[in-house]
Amino acid sequence: MVGFGGYLPNRIVTNDELAARLDTSDDWIRARTGITQRHIAGPNDNAVSMATAAASRALDYAGVPAAAVDAIIVATSTPDQAFPATAVRVQAELGLRGGFGFDIAAACSGFVYALSTADALIRSGQAGRVLVIGSEVYSRILDWSDRGTCVLFGDGAGAVLLTAAEGEGPEGILSTHLHSDGSTGDLLYVDGAIGLRESSGFLRMRGRDVFRHAVAKLSASVDEVLAANGLTYADVSWLVPHQANLRIIEGVARKLELPQERVVITVDRHANTSAASIPLAMNEAVRDGRIRKGDLVLMEALGGGLTWGSALARL
Ligand code: COA
Repeated sequence: MVGFGGYLPNRIVTNDELAARLDTSDDWIRARTGITQRHIAGPNDNAVSMATAAASRALDYAGVPAAAVDAIIVATSTPDQAFPATAVRVQAELGLRGGFGFDIAAACSGFVYALSTADALIRSGQAGRVLVIGSEVYSRILDWSDRGTCVLFGDGAGAVLLTAAEGEGPEGILSTHLHSDGSTGDLLYVDGAIGLRESSGFLRMRGRDVFRHAVAKLSASVDEVLAANGLTYADVSWLVPHQANLRIIEGVARKLELPQERVVITVDRHANTSAASIPLAMNEAVRDGRIRKGDLVLMEALGGGLTWGSALARL
């Protein structure tokens, strides 16, 4: 992982602002989720524009020209169009004439799914440099009158550039582990899409059930990825979790016996940006010097589907 970039819309919406128009309060939102504010897309922000901004910053960080990128994968559940894929539009925005791009829809697990796919493309020799991006505008699929969901999400994009390593070095993606269970699809879903005529288009969630699944499945997921690499909790330098809820993150950190200082938290300021949350958190912690070369980084996520998974990387 050689490049990191992020983009957050300028407009910040605080809990108090939501409480002024909904039956909720700053205290309730903070206590249940850890969220204090979220960034919300402006009229000129969309999945493509935010993904392009994050990708450009990741390329700048790595000092790699866009023309050297072989593949672009965008994880998003809020694309601007059914097709062309967001990734293909980003390819054009970056001025790239070669290579290929496609989107992945795995809701909040999308970044882990995209990372796994990029790793497989690199290992199989199909691509040498892959941009992995999460870009989401959940503000456009939220029912702003539903206090049980609208307070939880925010907009943004994050990007990571992966490049093939020379030989078998100790760094890079050590392994990724993906899961889904379609029988739990009614716990967290968007009511309809372009292929359905009669639908609200809003996100719906059974919060308490999702919470229960998240704690159990993410705990199993961190055990799975460490066992697969013959490592233990003590080996983990940083937990970079999907940022849905501070209480879920703290639950997994406790299980790993990781002190809070070793967990990258953005949910307090970004809320849940779905597939963008892990790359946004990586970007922040690499750029401010917390995550350094040689660190072992554990990523995990769960989202609608349900989908969930984990990834372990040596920076
Ligand atoms: N403000 C004030 N009250 C609220 C509220 C809000 N924003 N949202 C819900 N409530 C109320 C409910 O109506 C309910 O009231 P009632 O007891 O009078 O019926 C009460 O708070 C408790 O609701 P419940 O849903 O049981 O609360 P909870 O403790 O489970 O917290 C979540 C709700 C959504 C914060 C929590 O379930 C959660 O974080 N779940 C996981 C969600 C998630 O992470 N989803 C994304 C995964 S990628």
